[in-house]
Amino acid sequence: MPPEGDGFARRAGALLRSAANDLKRDDEHAERDLGLERGTFRSYTDGQRPLDWELIRRAAEVWPLNERDLLPAHDDCPRGLAVMREKDSMAGARVLSRAGRPYYEYRDTAMSRIASYRPEWIRMLQVVGDDEADNPLVQWNRGHLLYQFTYFVGPVNYYCRWEGRSRCVPMETGDSVWGLPFAPHSFAARTDAEPAYILALTYGGGLTGDAQRELAVLGRSAAHALALPVTADPSVTARMIRSFMDAGALTATELAGRTGLPQRRTEALVGGAEPAGPDELALLAFGLGVSVRDLLPPRTGTDGGVAIQHARDARRWELPGEDGRPAYLVTRLAGDPLHPHTSALQLDVLGSDAARPSPLTTYQHQYVYVLGREGVRVRWEFAGEHFEEVLEAGASAYIRPQVPVTFTAPDGGRPRLLLLRIAGAVTPEVRHALGTMAAGGPDRYIAEDRLWYSKEGN
Ligand SMILES: [Fe+2]
Repeated sequence: MPPEGDGFARRAGALLRSAANDLKRDDEHAERDLGLERGTFRSYTDGQRPLDWELIRRAAEVWPLNERDLLPAHDDCPRGLAVMREKDSMAGARVLSRAGRPYYEYRDTAMSRIASYRPEWIRMLQVVGDDEADNPLVQWNRGHLLYQFTYFVGPVNYYCRWEGRSRCVPMETGDSVWGLPFAPHSFAARTDAEPAYILALTYGGGLTGDAQRELAVLGRSAAHALALPVTADPSVTARMIRSFMDAGALTATELAGRTGLPQRRTEALVGGAEPAGPDELALLAFGLGVSVRDLLPPRTGTDGGVAIQHARDARRWELPGEDGRPAYLVTRLAGDPLHPHTSALQLDVLGSDAARPSPLTTYQHQYVYVLGREGVRVRWEFAGEHFEEVLEAGASAYIRPQVPVTFTAPDGGRPRLLLLRIAGAVTPEVRHALGTMAAGGPDRYIAEDRLWYSKEGN
């Protein structure tokens, strides 16, 4: 367990208060339900007294909630940015064998309990002499839950399998790939004469956490029924429309009446036989009482479960600093519209320590890895304080959302960074909810500190 001087007890208390409010229990009734001494509930909700396991167990027993609902997250990044040095990555190195032979060397890099990253530095120990997908020396995995962004360094062969078709893609330094969950894959070195490794940056996105727990309870048939395919086919939008019709117990006749669309046309759109035009989508959204975006499927550019970006044809652009001079050369790495809130970038740092790059700020969680052998100076601001560190070669870092950072070259060289930015659980839906709460709502949402009404009245 990490140290709990991080506000853990206070956040736990706020969750207990929030849960009691949701269940319409005032202090007295909560005490009765939970078997607490009279007048003590408040000392738990204000964080004075830590929630013990017995209290959590009792709450999950007598109230319709889960133990997890009362357990807050740990804050292991109290300075806004947390660094993992190369020597610490190396200290945890482990070699895993496949078919009795050493296959990969793994090293952990920067992770935080706040974000779903599981980023590994992985060296390929198996050398192959060809680019054949069926090379028997290649040991495939069974695929895994986490999305995987991979950045390649050196002569690495990438193997991927989708719907029974296997292929091998020879990669060079700077190439990258983004892949969907549970697709089997593998990696091997084309030579042992030079380093061949990858940054395998896996992350859960919205898949880990509450959605996984909910579906695990709902079961297989619900999970299959709830899966929405992603194709350009009009049947996908039709499925979204039918979902909202089910939700509102609507008939095509009623929908036609609400939208003014002809009955026969409405039936064709609901059945997915024909695509809806923009005006029709707006009418359908109005009739269903939703926004047009709720009817639109996402787009994917994946082919065979992966989106590959070779360095040789990647987009590159310069980002100017406050003095107008180029501060960074940015290269766009692999990604997919299916994950609009994931951005993978390679950043060449052009400015020396004397330069004044504009701070980079994003709403995403951010992972940084120092590529090459040149270190970089990182400066950031968090909670009104200014910090700086030098990240040497092989170091990695996690940066909280909304933390402004700058990178400069302490030795006047041109350090190169890998950035992987991902969304957490704060989806656009949650951001819109925060933005539409009544005054003071967001503050109480993250730290409920009061009963939902006043005992004294008004
Ligand atoms: Fe993997």
